Amino acid sequence: MTDIGTAYGRKQAQPNKLLTEVGPGTPMGELFRRYWQPVATSEQATTRPKKVKVLGEDLILFRDRKGRPGLLYPRCMHRGTTLFYGKVEDEGIRCCYHGWLFAADGTCLDQPCEPEHGLHRDVARQPWYPVEERYGLVFAYMGPPEKKPVLPKYDNLENLAPGEMLQQVIGGQGATGDDSYEVLPYSWLHMNDNVLDPFHVQVLHSTFTVVQFVAEFKVMPKCDFVAVGDGVYYSAFRKLDDGREVDRISHWISPNIMSVPSIQMAAGPSTGVSWVVPADDQSYFQVFVQKVREKRPFALAIDGKLWGDKTEEEKQDVPGDYEAQVGQGTISKHSEEHLAQSDRGIVMQRRFLEQQIKLVQEGGDPAGVSFDTDRATVHVRSGNFFRAAKKLEPAE
Ligand code: FES
Ligand SMILES: [Fe+2]
Repeated sequence: MTDIGTAYGRKQAQPNKLLTEVGPGTPMGELFRRYWQPVATSEQATTRPKKVKVLGEDLILFRDRKGRPGLLYPRCMHRGTTLFYGKVEDEGIRCCYHGWLFAADGTCLDQPCEPEHGLHRDVARQPWYPVEERYGLVFAYMGPPEKKPVLPKYDNLENLAPGEMLQQVIGGQGATGDDSYEVLPYSWLHMNDNVLDPFHVQVLHSTFTVVQFVAEFKVMPKCDFVAVGDGVYYSAFRKLDDGREVDRISHWISPNIMSVPSIQMAAGPSTGVSWVVPADDQSYFQVFVQKVREKRPFALAIDGKLWGDKTEEEKQDVPGDYEAQVGQGTISKHSEEHLAQSDRGIVMQRRFLEQQIKLVQEGGDPAGVSFDTDRATVHVRSGNFFRAAKKLEPAE
């Protein structure tokens, strides 16, 4: 027999359901629900009700006229119409159908069709989630109330220097470089894998077609992967053609934070943090916040064109992160993977998540959550750290 390894008779392929299913009651969904997740920018929370989908749940975000953001289950507790058509008032959102008024914390303040505006309205409660604002983002806590941790701070987003400000970007820009997508049409795990994959930077972004970021990435890095208390980071060491040496450190903070250092190779610690937030099992959005001196639209033109302006052929000619990740399918079939040496970061990351899932199932608190305000600052390790230039030996 000579035709070995044909596609005939191959096994049915399966995704890793443990890590890709994020709805209520799923193991990964319960792990996610122990952390505050950014669901919108503060600017997006307005008196115009907005639909958001997070961890498989449809929700309505709004900001009452006194400035308080609210995140409510969309189906009105009275007879189920959506609060998307509600009207925002000083104290909350009023349902369009019979006028029940709900505060940001779900309490029912008025039932205009009932005797005395609802004799028992104090026991009515529209399902809701706690929200808090920081860094110009709205964070929601969707987990068990008794396990609600402190909303963390990130050390690289604190202490703005004079002239510095924070810029927020939300959507699919991490994969496409532009604002073509608000929500990316594939599993969050594809992007999460990407953050501990320094090798694709050398291939996909630097040598496969054109230099998509900077020429320094053409050098194949020597990488170390290190598990730390709150996740995993890699150090990708490169000796550049001009004699400079650089350690590029990228930190993944469980379960879904990536802090990727400047892709222009700007020296020094990373100035941003981003979250890969599942909308549901088959889609996600990314939330970035970064220290900047000037707010500019996030628009990365690769090969001279924004992603949304390219034809399918141009995307084939110069594929980037979106093409590689959507190419893995809506949810990758992990049983078909052949993980190799260069995937050790991904293996460590997935193992870390599996351990955290188990910990939560056994009643513990997962890595990085804190119930103590004084200890809730996360140290972000990422950056491009150049070593002192070595002097070239004079030729004999
Ligand atoms: S359905 Fe909302 S008030 Fe009746
Ligand atoms: Fe990438």
